[in-house]
Amino acid sequence: MSYFENKTVVITGGSGVLCREFAKAMASEGAKVAVLGRTLSKLDEVVKEIEENGGTTMSVVCDVVSEESVDAAKKIINEKFGKTDILINGAGGNNAAANTQKDYFEAGDKENDDVKSFFDVSLDGFRYVFDVNITGTVIPTKAFMTDLIETKGNVLNISSMSAYHPMTRVAAYSAAKAAVSNFTEWVAVHFAKAGVRCNAMAPGFFLTQQNHDLLVNPDGTNTSRADKIIAGTPMGRFGEPEELIGTLLWITDNEKAGFVTGIVVPVDGGFNAYSGV
Ligand SMILES: NC(=O)c1ccc[n+]([C@@H]2O[C@H](COP(=O)([O-])OP(=O)(O)OC[C@H]3O[C@@H](n4cnc5c(N)ncnc54)[C@H](O)[C@@H]3O)[C@@H](O)[C@H]2O)c1
Repeated sequence: MSYFENKTVVITGGSGVLCREFAKAMASEGAKVAVLGRTLSKLDEVVKEIEENGGTTMSVVCDVVSEESVDAAKKIINEKFGKTDILINGAGGNNAAANTQKDYFEAGDKENDDVKSFFDVSLDGFRYVFDVNITGTVIPTKAFMTDLIETKGNVLNISSMSAYHPMTRVAAYSAAKAAVSNFTEWVAVHFAKAGVRCNAMAPGFFLTQQNHDLLVNPDGTNTSRADKIIAGTPMGRFGEPEELIGTLLWITDNEKAGFVTGIVVPVDGGFNAYSGV
């Protein structure tokens, strides 16, 4: 019998490109999967697919930056699926308002109206990105932790390559994901004696909604940034969402990874190991 059989798994951002694969994988292992996100119609697409394959699942509309919304989601999940065994904090993303237009600042950029330099990035954009990635990880962790202490469950956060070394242009996203890695370690230590593990996965580069405009030109060809990423990935390609599943099923399994806590696992085709030379 699979470790996940009848376990209650909560996945925020569960209708996103990567986390819908997580939801499907967990359901096919026999878990009861609560798929959380802001838009019911998108959640329902994932739920329908899982149910067609015989899985047990439910959609729960939830905004991870609102404590009230997350608490309400927990209540619904507890009523239908019981206490949570695994929390996956998958909701995340970037906001173009927080990006600089160029990799490097050059003299005259601040005065040039055609260049969006660091001086033009919006603080609201920064706050949005910090909110969704780090506050949106803290709030569900806080809300579901009472369950996890009872079930001796575990948390999986989603970090990023930009947590190790910030990526050009995306200052807010990089700082927020560094905070996610750091918070992962903090939670692992703080709840270790309560029997709750906490780890993170740091995916390399996968083509999804959140990075589409940075990586794909309107005519469908790769942007120069996408070419740079491929050149910086020793395996020479983007990842496929299914390639995260092995790590997901290992690290959240208390039998296989019961002594593993406070780590961030890169799944990146070698990006993080490569110096570029
Ligand atoms: N795609 C990549 O290459 C990549 C690389 C590293 C890390 N990540 C991370 O992986 C996770 C999944 O991203 P993805 O690439 O599948 O992108 P995605 O945009 O397809 O999925 C993100 C999901 O989070 C949801 N979300 C955003 N704000 C929310 C909020 N306030 N409340 C609830 N849900 C919210 C979005 O609606 C979306 O469904 C994110 O944390 C992302 O930062 C992605």
